[in-house]
Amino acid sequence: MAFDLEHYLDNSRALRVSDIDWKQASAVAVPPEHVRCLKYMMDIESHTIMYLRDLLNSRAVADPDISAFLACWVYEETFHGRAFERFLREIGVEVAAGRVEELRTSTNWRATVDLAGTFVVSRLSRHFPAAYLTWGAINELTTHSGYRLLLERTENPVLAVLLRRVMRDESRHFAFYYHEAGKRLAEPGAQRLTRFLLERFWGPVGSSVKSADDVAFITAYLFAGPQGESAVEHIEQTIRRLPGLEWFDLLGRARESAVTRYGDSWGETAAAGVS
Ligand SMILES: [Fe+2]
Ligand SMILES: [Fe+2]
Repeated sequence: MAFDLEHYLDNSRALRVSDIDWKQASAVAVPPEHVRCLKYMMDIESHTIMYLRDLLNSRAVADPDISAFLACWVYEETFHGRAFERFLREIGVEVAAGRVEELRTSTNWRATVDLAGTFVVSRLSRHFPAAYLTWGAINELTTHSGYRLLLERTENPVLAVLLRRVMRDESRHFAFYYHEAGKRLAEPGAQRLTRFLLERFWGPVGSSVKSADDVAFITAYLFAGPQGESAVEHIEQTIRRLPGLEWFDLLGRARESAVTRYGDSWGETAAAGVS
């Protein structure tokens, strides 16, 4: 997959929302399951800046292409979080101003472990960027799919516009990670380290920040039914095309355990609970 980094850097911008008629946001009711998904998405998007902090301590930022990308990437992700926050407020959902800060505090110990782990592994192995980029590719592709699956189920016109626009950014993020990971996974050492880290530490997007219950809910809800199953299949097949990743089955396994907990019911209303 080709990726034109210069073109991406020249065109990176905040998500456009100025033309949105926000009054239309409350014209169509948003089910509680969607509200729960959107709160999760908002939190993860807004938390990207903390994830960046870990990376700034790693070997990954020594690479000028990666550091240039990260600067634009975190900017775009921040505006995704702000767009979801605005949408939730417009439909009458209370979003505490200090929500992201609370999330940071409540996950402090995990953040410290992540920070230390990232620092140590990145110092020990020159192959750390390969693992980090592969991780990013999986997460950006999963995020894109999650938004697409929510888009298929929403009848809210404003949410549909937002999701389509956010998805365009997520595709570009994925293209960067996938392209860069592909280049760096050529060496067997990079493949070994990537497999080791993914098998031991990878979880669906948000697992290092949100509760296990939230992660299982969103995985089971968004990736429900045959549509969800085929989305997982597509993601895994794409990741398996990377050098040394032909074994990749972690998302399918995560989906399986999530649906065991929450059921596999596309279109059916689960006891979502709005947290
Ligand atoms: Fe995003
Ligand atoms: Fe992204």
